Amino acid sequence: MKKTIFVSQRIPQAAIDILEQAGFDVEVNPEDRVLTAEELITSCRGKDGLLCLLTDTIDKNFIDQTPGLKGIANMAVGYDNIDLQAAARKGIPVSNTPGVLTEATADLAWALLMAASRRLPEAERYLRAGKFTGWGPMLFMGGDLNGRILGIVGAGRIGTAIGPRAGGFGMKIIYTDPDRNKALEEETGARRVELDTLLEESDFITLHVLLTEKTRHLIGRRELRRMKRTAYLINTSRGPVVNEEALVEAIQSKEIAGAGLDVFEKEPHIHPGLLSLPNVVLLPHIGSATIETRTRMATMAADNLTAMMKGEQPPNQVN
Ligand code: GLV
Repeated sequence: MKKTIFVSQRIPQAAIDILEQAGFDVEVNPEDRVLTAEELITSCRGKDGLLCLLTDTIDKNFIDQTPGLKGIANMAVGYDNIDLQAAARKGIPVSNTPGVLTEATADLAWALLMAASRRLPEAERYLRAGKFTGWGPMLFMGGDLNGRILGIVGAGRIGTAIGPRAGGFGMKIIYTDPDRNKALEEETGARRVELDTLLEESDFITLHVLLTEKTRHLIGRRELRRMKRTAYLINTSRGPVVNEEALVEAIQSKEIAGAGLDVFEKEPHIHPGLLSLPNVVLLPHIGSATIETRTRMATMAADNLTAMMKGEQPPNQVN
């Protein structure tokens, strides 16, 4: 009997080819949208494997309702959308896609940092609105990067990859992480500090932590108050790492200078306060969205799922 796989949304074809060449029956969600919890359960009933996305909630209820499932491959490095314990209790391995999206995500964090500091979206909106009447000595003045301090929160793969980018722009680096990152220190002269020190000293703060109960609202009112009034917050990790309400208040009351956000607390809902602030750059969660990276993420997820379907340990198991 052929093993059956459900893929929760259309993904790069190379991944589907891997699954089909391995001899599996592959069904892809035909709708160009995230399925509801009920639809996802119905689609996965009787299937052997699931290739899912960070927009799918794989909770205890899902696991209980899909007893035939023998493996779940998440096409993302983050896996806060999956109840790992519930899967483990049923003996279902879960995998992620680490490493392959490091550079693309670090690039996007950098793009946000530059866009925020040089006010690019604001300036572009102005030009498109026909307001540009000529070069102006005071027009859209932003801030320098050279000589400024970058604070990296979470020096894992992506946080570490920010280092050389900052170095290339003449910035000084401080970071906070439970573990010392010697490579980052040696390569970039980065200094490890406590979170409070990082908040107080940084001109730009970029977040690169997994979302866990420990990191939920890691940046809230108290933390935002510690930041410099001229500082920017960049988030390409997960929305709930930041208390969005507190962030809106901090920017409205000029406690910080602005923000660059690729992720939101209640995605795809965007806090109306953020939408009304000109000094916040907003992107629709596209950190890893390059053709090469998304293809690698998809094929990595397919390879993991293939191993699971053969009863082997997947290369990137997280539970
Ligand atoms: C994207 O957000 C990912 O976790 O891969």
